Amino acid sequence: MEIQLWREILMPYELAVKELEVKFNHIINEYRVQKMYSPIETVTGRLKSISSILEKCRKKDIPIENITEQIEDIAGIRIMCQFVEDIYRVVDIIRNRNDMEIYQEKDYIANAKPSGYRSYHLIVKYNIETLEGTRKIFAEIQIRTLAMNFWATIEHSLQYKYRQNIPEHITKRLTASAEAILKLDEEMSSIHDEIMDAQSSFIIHAAIVSEILNNIQNLYKVANRREVIKIQDEFFEIYKLNDLEQLKSFARQLDIIAEGYRAQSLR
Ligand code: GTP
Ligand code: MG
Repeated sequence: MEIQLWREILMPYELAVKELEVKFNHIINEYRVQKMYSPIETVTGRLKSISSILEKCRKKDIPIENITEQIEDIAGIRIMCQFVEDIYRVVDIIRNRNDMEIYQEKDYIANAKPSGYRSYHLIVKYNIETLEGTRKIFAEIQIRTLAMNFWATIEHSLQYKYRQNIPEHITKRLTASAEAILKLDEEMSSIHDEIMDAQSSFIIHAAIVSEILNNIQNLYKVANRREVIKIQDEFFEIYKLNDLEQLKSFARQLDIIAEGYRAQSLR
């Protein structure tokens, strides 16, 4: 096929890669502006090269005139996440969008490939506006953690180097390192959970302390000074224990006392 014709065929895919990169990067920005954690860490995109398309046609017996229907990864997007949980959040984000429609879904995380390869794959249908009107094309979106990406990149470059003839002992070690990557992802997730728990209990703790201090301050205006000092000392004792439950129960008691004074002052 003539180069000029190839360029025409590939143009919508080139645009799709650019648009999708912009859109997924925009999601990262939306999270950043809202000062929220983004489930997407980075996004990359690539247009499949003509030689890779020809190679795939040869391997899969696809006639050249059928490439747009039968090759779904001419436009390819790769989304990297920090944690495995983020991957499923990204899939949900994509599922809820109106500008792309999920055509096919493969969960190689729940079901890793025999090689040890893990990733979440989506084939989406995506509209491209051209001079001839709207065209619906396929794009492949691969979603994976940074650790999965590390493994897949190295494994892919070895595949390339050895042209499918990777020596057996290397294959074994690659499968073993895929196991290590799985462990790494699991470990990171559990550290993440622990940090999240610690952060949220820290926030709750800070909120209760501030509520208590607020109540004590108000009591100074209405209650007997000696009584308030007694309450304050009690608070310091409980604060020293560093026990969230005791702090909560103290805050509840103080609320009742404060409520009592409020009721009195209303009389
Ligand atoms: P393709 O002919 O590649 O499209 O196969 P398929 O239609 O069965 O798609 P699949 O979802 O299995 O894989 C699509 C893409 O995922 C590949 O082009 C690679 O980029 C990636 N991939 C799949 N398996 C492996 C693997 O074992 N190692 C690495 N490094 N990448 C893989
Ligand atoms: Mg495929």
